[in-house]
Amino acid sequence: MNTASPEDTLAETASVRGSTLASDFTSSLAVDRRMYREDIAASTAHAKMLGRQSIIPQSDADAIIDGLARIRVEMEEDAFDWRPDLEDIHMNVEARLYELIGDVAGKLHTARSRNDQVATDFRLYTMRRADQSVAGCRRLQRALLDQADAHRETLLPGYTHLQRAQPIVFGHVMMAYYEMLGRDADAFKSARDTADCCPLGSGALAGTTYQIDREFVASELGFSRVSRNSMDAVSDRDFVLDYLFAAAKSMIHLSRLAEDIVVWSSQEFGFVRLSDSYSTGSSMMPQKRNPDYAELVRGKSGRVAGALMSMLMTMKGLPMTYNRDLQEDKQQLMDAADTVQAALDACAGMVSEMVVDKSRAAEAASDPVLLATDVADRLVREEGVPFREAYSEVKARVLGDADGAESLPELTAQESVAMRDVVGGTAPARVSEAVMRAYGELWAARLRGEW
Ligand code: ARG
Repeated sequence: MNTASPEDTLAETASVRGSTLASDFTSSLAVDRRMYREDIAASTAHAKMLGRQSIIPQSDADAIIDGLARIRVEMEEDAFDWRPDLEDIHMNVEARLYELIGDVAGKLHTARSRNDQVATDFRLYTMRRADQSVAGCRRLQRALLDQADAHRETLLPGYTHLQRAQPIVFGHVMMAYYEMLGRDADAFKSARDTADCCPLGSGALAGTTYQIDREFVASELGFSRVSRNSMDAVSDRDFVLDYLFAAAKSMIHLSRLAEDIVVWSSQEFGFVRLSDSYSTGSSMMPQKRNPDYAELVRGKSGRVAGALMSMLMTMKGLPMTYNRDLQEDKQQLMDAADTVQAALDACAGMVSEMVVDKSRAAEAASDPVLLATDVADRLVREEGVPFREAYSEVKARVLGDADGAESLPELTAQESVAMRDVVGGTAPARVSEAVMRAYGELWAARLRGEW
């Protein structure tokens, strides 16, 4: 009995058992032991089907199912004796089943190959992780939404090219990220749909000679459909690519949010103050309040984009059907799923605890150059000047001299944002509408059980 949790690395166990380098190279156990729940669920459904179809005696199926349940408990209680000399989770479970129930264990693998088995387990695992990712997106959306709600009227400069452009309200930026995270949730759901297809019954590559009931197994496991071609089914990892793309895209969104937070929390901007839990002091400079969490989110986005590239390269040029290259899939997906989950949680905490410095932001938003567009718009509206002409006139005033810029504001930043009263605009009335609609959306997502 060892005390390592099933999700720990295998390093300790391996050294106890004295595993060799050669088997380390081909082993996937350190990674795939994390899908023990899925492996046992899939084997249990398969055994149940074998009994129902009288492919094996019902009493044998019952013994197998009992044995599998005991193994699951052992794993859950960290009482399972992992064997690094056996390649993967599948072999470990099977070997232990022999110890527990004897030769009947050998009947479990009837009408099944490790090729359709691993594809089934990994699809179930991916569906579970995709569900978690959706929930993570929803929690971050909620944090963004609460900040948006609190700052429907908080003025600050909006930027293009990181140059002051036009006044906006802080709630509008928060809602921009809310939209991005909503698309991320959709992408994770779509990846889950891709994974939601049961390959069990495809055998090694060509199907099986037994009278199996694939629909039964699929519905036992919560799949909504079965695969239609056995060769495709054992070698298809599109669901991994889809999940990794969703994860990479989401991390790119989070890295943009992180970068905005780094900028806003700098002394130069000073629009937000990070909470102590999401910033770190410097060991040397007492005044520092470093945005380490935001920086790490930004940094880790590279790892996840890398996992997508890595998996694309792994798939490239693989001949039909299962090839051992495919074993590389799990490490990429598991690491990406862990990273995106941690980053979503970190962002949710960081966003909900950050404090907006309204007066600092308002002061920056009162820069008269931010109103240049509005002044040009007014010339268009009130004097019928073509926009291009009005633009040139205002540009000459702004660039000409400081007094020209000072003389610009014939209106305030507050009036400026209020006038952007168009669908999707930054007018506080529109932002309020967006906030209300978003609370409804998140409520609906909760009713669907997404979070
Ligand atoms: N460890 C393997 C993997 O993760 C399981 C499937 C092995 N199948 C085989 N024919 N060697 O892909």
